[in-house]
Order: sequence, then structure tokens, then C-alpha cells
Amino acid sequence: MSEELILAIETSCDETSAAVIRGGKHICSNIVSSQIDIHERFGGVVPEIASRKHVETITRIIEAAIKESGYEAKDLSAIAVTEGPGLVGALLVGNVAAKSLALALDIPLIATHHIAGHIYASRLEHTMVFPALALVVSGGHTELVLLPQEGVFHIIGRTRDDAVGEAYDKVARALKLPYPGGPHIDRLAQQAEEENVLPRAWLEQDSYDFSFSGLKSAVLAAINQHRMKGLELNESAIAKGFQQSVIDVLVTKALRAAKQYEVKQLILCGGVAANRGLRTELAAACQQEGLQLIVPSPKLCTDNAAMIGAAAAVKYKHGEFAGLDMKADPGLSLEAWSIKI
Ligand code: KG4
Ligand code: ZN
Repeated sequence: MSEELILAIETSCDETSAAVIRGGKHICSNIVSSQIDIHERFGGVVPEIASRKHVETITRIIEAAIKESGYEAKDLSAIAVTEGPGLVGALLVGNVAAKSLALALDIPLIATHHIAGHIYASRLEHTMVFPALALVVSGGHTELVLLPQEGVFHIIGRTRDDAVGEAYDKVARALKLPYPGGPHIDRLAQQAEEENVLPRAWLEQDSYDFSFSGLKSAVLAAINQHRMKGLELNESAIAKGFQQSVIDVLVTKALRAAKQYEVKQLILCGGVAANRGLRTELAAACQQEGLQLIVPSPKLCTDNAAMIGAAAAVKYKHGEFAGLDMKADPGLSLEAWSIKI
């Protein structure tokens, strides 16, 4: 049997993306159109503008993805789309496009979970082995996800307030850096010669949950203190202190969980996985523990449709398809999205 060809669509936030994935692993095309330049002036994503921009670009992006893949629409086996979580109006655009295509081509529709996509992005470049643990760090999510087997997800820890990426973006805003702030803080932290040491939120001793709002407040307090005393702000020292606090907590909790659940592999994924400091320190800690770490390359860490195609392929294999009455679900549960076994 030849490998299935999935056209995947992602419109959950501020990237309009379409990709063609063969056999759940091979990227035939992956077109990403970012809206960052539009939202930048507002300091964050404006949902209504995001939806309108998706409407304007989606058809062109889908056509480009099919063309670049070297295949034709008639060769496709299924259409996958991010069902949720995300911004409802943004998700809706991808959902309507996917349903129309599935109906017109008379092929199955696969409703896909955005976070499963971030996790399965790893399969596009690496071999996944189970049980695995995923540290998901993005603009909207911070989760430790246990995958006892293919397509099954258990959340063992999550943020109780801000997501890591959200904290990065808020701190960057306070430091008057452009949106999205993650890469700018990362750059400043790498350049820093001094570190403004900030607190770490460990929570209860055995908890795998996270909290970043206290750290964000500590950064704001440090900035205000400098301003009140009329002192010059050492932005890079603050960036380094913030980044170091985030990394310490993420690395320590991920390694403790990996040990407790005896996983064979740790997967780092989501937009913040592009962070150089985090990648380096997690790699060093895993090497010391003899734990295999896989991290997608930076372009597959941030939102893209290839990752949606990779996750959808698992559902394709199990014949779990959606009906044309599928609705975009901004609060879609990852655990409930697990394959039916
Ligand atoms: O996964 P993603 O593209 O979108 C969501 O699903 O949220 O993640 C976007 C987030 C933003 O908050 C951005 O600031 C952060 O990822 N990010 C980074 C880096 N690159 C992107 N955070 C820290 N360091 C980076 N190098
Ligand atoms: Zn994402």
C-alpha cells in the first residue's frame, strides 16, 4: 500500500499555514504565512484581525502547498485541520476550508489537536519511541504530557497562570522589545554579562505544575525600582535572570518526571522550544541523565501545518475521521483527543 498523503491546514492563531505530508513523516510542502508584522503594532494578536487575515490568505496558501508538493488535489488521501485549541474565529476559517475540500474531493476529514501537532512535529525529523514525555512550551500552553504509547496523551503538569511564551511576551513588552518577545529576550540573555537573579516558582514538592505570573511580577518590580531610583536599566541582566529562572524550573521538573515515569525519550516542543538557552541546558541535563532528547528544528517549533499533518497521520492510521458537522473547539482537550483503544 502506498503511503497516505495528507493536506493539513493550521489557522489557530496568527499563522496561516498549509502542508502536504506523506506517510506521517515526510514534508512534501509546508507553507507558513505569518501575520506577525500586522499584530506587532498592537503588542499582541488581535483575534478579529487574525480571522480576517486568514480569510484573505487561506486559499492562496492551500494552492501553494499543493503546487509545491509536486502532487495534485486528486492524489490526496485526507484533509487535516486544527480543530482546537486556539482563537475561535481563526480556527473557524481553517475548519470551513478543510470541510469544503474534504467534501469536494470526497476524502476523509481529520480533526486535529494543536498541541498534539506540536508534539508530533518531532516525527518529521526524528524517530519517536514510547513511553515518551513531552515538554510543551508555547504562547498559549505550558504542559508536561506523558505519551505511554502512540496517540495517547496524559497531562501530568500544566501552568496554573501564564504560559511560558506569554510570560516571555509580557516581560518583553515591559522591556519595550517588539512582539513576539521570546526571541528578543533569548538574544539579550545570551549577550548578558550580568544576571539579575529572580525567584523560581517550584510550587508543592511533588507537583509538575508551573507558575510564571510571580516571576513576571518580579521582573516588573525590578524594572520599576530602577526607574524610581533613576538608575539605568540593565535590560540584558533582567532578560538573563528571567530566562534562567524559566529554564531552571522547566528543566528540573521535566527531568524529574522523565525519571518517575521511566520514559525512553523526552520531546521539547512548541514555540518556546526555539529558545537557545532552553535547548542547550535541557540537552546538557539529558545527556547527564542518559535520556534521549528530541527537539524539532526552530521552524517546526513555531506554528505550522506540517506538524498538524504529522499528528493527523496517527488518526488516519486508526481510521478516526471527523464528520462534516465538526465544529472548531477553542477549548479542545488533548487527553480526550487520544486515539480510541
Ligand atoms: O507555538 P507558538 O508558535 O504559538 C502558540 O501556539 O502559542 O509559540 C509562540 C510563542 C511566543 O510567545 C513567542 O514569544 C515564543 O513562542 N518564542 C520564543 C522564542 N521563539 C518564539 N520564546 C523564547 N525564546 C525564543 N527563541
Ligand atoms: Zn502553537
